[in-house]
Amino acid sequence: MNSTEKSLLFTAEDIARQVQRLASRISQDYQGGEVVVVGVLKGAFIFLADLVRLLTIPTKLDFVRLSSYGASTESSGKIRIVADIEINIQGQDVLIVEDIVDSGLTTAFLREHLLTKKPRSLKICTLLDKMERRRIEIPLEYVGLHLAKGFVVGYGLDRNEAHRQLPDIYELLL
Ligand code: PRP
Repeated sequence: MNSTEKSLLFTAEDIARQVQRLASRISQDYQGGEVVVVGVLKGAFIFLADLVRLLTIPTKLDFVRLSSYGASTESSGKIRIVADIEINIQGQDVLIVEDIVDSGLTTAFLREHLLTKKPRSLKICTLLDKMERRRIEIPLEYVGLHLAKGFVVGYGLDRNEAHRQLPDIYELLL
């Protein structure tokens, strides 16, 4: 891929500012308690790693591996749990951490799934909120950056598993 095929959307500095802002808000909101952070693999791994290192509250970490897109740029709408969380979240304050909410189907599915495990509270934190293709209404308590449209890569986000390692976020010119 050469540089004419993607355009810079958010720099590492833009992202870091938002991650710090979110971490401060989350730390404030959960002050006096403990939060179980559930990262959604693979896309959220970099955002989650940066976010949790800035939290000032006791935190437990777990992950789910979901899959819907495969090698496509459109959500199939069929979400699969590839690997579930291991921590018992019953009665716990749980925070889902996503890299992007696009159609919303993945996060809505995960939310319903985690609610069956009876957490005390369940909130959602996403770095990117992309409204263009939203197919289901979903409460997003913590949003880093809003995005009108476009297929984005970098900072954990991929296309066909490529570009996840980029420190900045780019729009892919498909
Ligand atoms: C991406 C992203 C979100 C989901 C958002 O995951 O990480 O989990 O899509 O899309 P939606 O709102 O339209 O459901 P993907 O299935 O591409 O897997 P990945 O995280 O391993 O890249």
